[in-house]
Amino acid sequence: MTPARPDPSAAVTVVGIGADGWEGVPETSRAALREAEVLLGGPRQLDLLPAECAGERVAWPSPLRPAVPGLLAAHSGRRIAVLASGDPMFYGIGRALTEVAGAVHVLPHPSSVSYASARLGWPLEDVEVVTLVGRPTARLAAALHEGRRLLVLSADASTPGEVAALLRDRGFGPSRMRVLEQLGGAKERTTGPATADDWAEESGDPLNIVAVECRRAPDALRLGAVPGLPDAAYEHDGQLTKRHIRAATLGVLAPAPGELLWDIGGGSGSIAIEWMRTHPSCRAVTVERDPVRAERIGRNADRLGVPTLQVVTGRAPAVLAELPSPDAVFIGGGLTAPGLLDACWEALPAGGRLVANTVTLESEALLTDAYRRFGGELVKLAVAHAVPVGAFTGWRQAMPVTQWAVQKNPESGADR
Ligand SMILES: C[S@@+](CC[C@H](N)C(=O)[O-])C[C@H]1O[C@@H](n2cnc3c(N)ncnc32)[C@H](O)[C@@H]1O
Repeated sequence: MTPARPDPSAAVTVVGIGADGWEGVPETSRAALREAEVLLGGPRQLDLLPAECAGERVAWPSPLRPAVPGLLAAHSGRRIAVLASGDPMFYGIGRALTEVAGAVHVLPHPSSVSYASARLGWPLEDVEVVTLVGRPTARLAAALHEGRRLLVLSADASTPGEVAALLRDRGFGPSRMRVLEQLGGAKERTTGPATADDWAEESGDPLNIVAVECRRAPDALRLGAVPGLPDAAYEHDGQLTKRHIRAATLGVLAPAPGELLWDIGGGSGSIAIEWMRTHPSCRAVTVERDPVRAERIGRNADRLGVPTLQVVTGRAPAVLAELPSPDAVFIGGGLTAPGLLDACWEALPAGGRLVANTVTLESEALLTDAYRRFGGELVKLAVAHAVPVGAFTGWRQAMPVTQWAVQKNPESGADR
C-alpha cells in the first residue's frame, strides 16, 4: 500500500537547496544531509555542502534521468540523500526518484517560481508556469493570451532572447518581460522590464526565470483557449476541417488531460493541434500520406504552440500498428482505405472514443454500416455562411459533413 505521507524512514531523502546554499537550508534538511552515507547531486550543489556532511559525494552524470536506477542500485542498503535545486517535486529530480525508488522522503525548499512570484507580487495561482527546460521554445505559443502572466523556466542564458523572439513572431511583441536570475542567492539580479519588441539585454546567468505579461499586438489574430480557432490561424491547401465543424468535432472527441489522440488523415493538422492545445499534457499523433502536407502540419503545430505533435508521414492503416495505444481516434481522411475503420476500432481500448467525419457518399455508406454494427451517434452537420447576393445577403451552404461518434464499451465492444 502507498503511504499517505512521505516515509521518513525511506532509504532515499531528497533535499531541496537554493541559490543561498547551506545558509538557506533549514535544520531538518541539514540533519538529513549530515546523516547521509551517500550524497548525490550536481557538482555545483555538492560544493555548497560544508565538511560536516561527511557522506561519500557522488556527482550526477549527464544526462541524469537514465542514470537514476543504476545509481540507486549501486548504493542500495546505504542512507542516500539527493540534492535538488529548489522544490524537488516541481520539475525536479523528485519525479524520477519517486518513479524509480517508490517511497522517497522529500524535504522541499521554496522553488524558483515561489521566489519569482514573491519578487513580482504576482499571486502564484494567477500565473501560468511554462517550462522550456529540455523542451522547444515554441510550446510557449500555446500559453499566449492577452493579460496573462507567465513564468517561464529557462533552459539556459539564451532562453530570454528566444522568448522575446517568439513573442514578437507570434504577435505578442508589446508583452512586458523581466528576467530574474539566481533567485534567493547573493547574485540575485533582475533585468527589465522591457517589451519583447524592445528587448536588447545581453545574455545573463543561466539560472533564470522569465516573467512575461502578455500583450497582443493590435493587428495580431486572436486565438482563444477553446477549439474552433479561426481558419486563418492555419497554413493550408484547402484540406482543413473548417472552424465550426472543427469545434463540434473536438467537442465529441472530448479531450481530457494526459490523453493521446490518433488523427488519421491529418491534412493541416488542425484536429490534433487543437486537441493538444486543450491541456499541456494532451498528446497526439497525426498520420498524413502526403509529405508536403505532413511538413505543413509540423509548421502549424510549431506556430500554434504544440511542437511535440508527432507527425507520421505514411498511409493508414499500414502505419497504425507502430503507434502507441490511443484514448481517442479521429478519422478525417482515408476512410475508404481497406481495413482502416476496423484497424482503428481494434486499436481503441475499452472506453476509447472514435469520431469520423466525411463529405463523400462512399465514406458515408461505410459510416452508416459502422453505426449499424457498433451504435454511437450518426449526425449530419451543415454550415452556411451569409454572403452578398447583389445588393442583398444570402446563404452559401458548405458541403454537409456526416459524423459518426462512438465510445467503445468494455463488455459488448460497442456503446454510444
Ligand atoms: C479532409 S483532410 C483532413 C483535414 C484535417 N482534419 C484538417 O483539419 O486539416 C484529409 C487528409 O487525409 C489524407 N489521407 C487520405 N487517405 C489517407 C490515408 N490512408 N492515410 C493517411 N492519410 C490519408 C489526405 O492526404 C488529406 O490530407
